[in-house]
Amino acid sequence: MITIRPARAADAKALPAIEQSAGEAFRAIAELAWLADGDNVSVERHRALIAAGACWIADEKDRPVGFLSAGIEADALHIWELDVRLDRQGQGIGRALLERAVADAGRRGLAGVTLTTFRAVPWNAPFYQRCGFRILEGAEVDRRLADLLSDEADHGMALDQRCAMRLDLR
Ligand SMILES: CC(C)(COP(=O)(O)OP(=O)(O)OC[C@H]1O[C@@H](n2cnc3c(N)ncnc32)[C@H](O)[C@@H]1OP(=O)(O)O)[C@@H](O)C(=O)NCCC(=O)NCCS
Repeated sequence: MITIRPARAADAKALPAIEQSAGEAFRAIAELAWLADGDNVSVERHRALIAAGACWIADEKDRPVGFLSAGIEADALHIWELDVRLDRQGQGIGRALLERAVADAGRRGLAGVTLTTFRAVPWNAPFYQRCGFRILEGAEVDRRLADLLSDEADHGMALDQRCAMRLDLR
């Protein structure tokens, strides 16, 4: 059985390995396989995100198998990472984590939930669209999200393959 709960400081050290395992999924897409060999978010950054109070863990038998880390940015909850261990993907854990974060954003009275992701990767934008997010185009991409996309381009992620998305809560 999977349970979703808020992350605790002690979880931070388990999260890079989950991100590493999750990223193996990109090996199925030749042009994105390099992502599987990229750097993971550091334990220190995870500690800070957990302390800020918008990170959730999916536990299986008291062991983390997935996480969602987010933070409040402007009027929105911004999702920084959503990762499920490769051998547990496709079983509804990612959706459960996302639904938990969206519900939390609503309870906090935030206006929306934002993220950046790949437009064409089946478990990225198409998945978020099925969860109610829409791709922002042109002037809808505000300065904050444009800066994130630009940083990602600096890290090798082709700008035309990435997108910013938003779920409006009001
Ligand atoms: C994205 C991710 C967290 C989703 O977690 P998950 O536990 O696999 O999620 P779910 O089982 O709830 O599936 C989510 C959706 O993705 C789809 N999906 C998952 N794995 C897939 C695959 N290998 N191929 C095609 N679609 C896939 C499912 O069909 C599902 O859509 P639905 O709920 O509308 O039917 C997980 O696939 C992952 O860690 N991927 C690598 C890292 C990543 O891309 N993170 C997101 C960055 S924005």
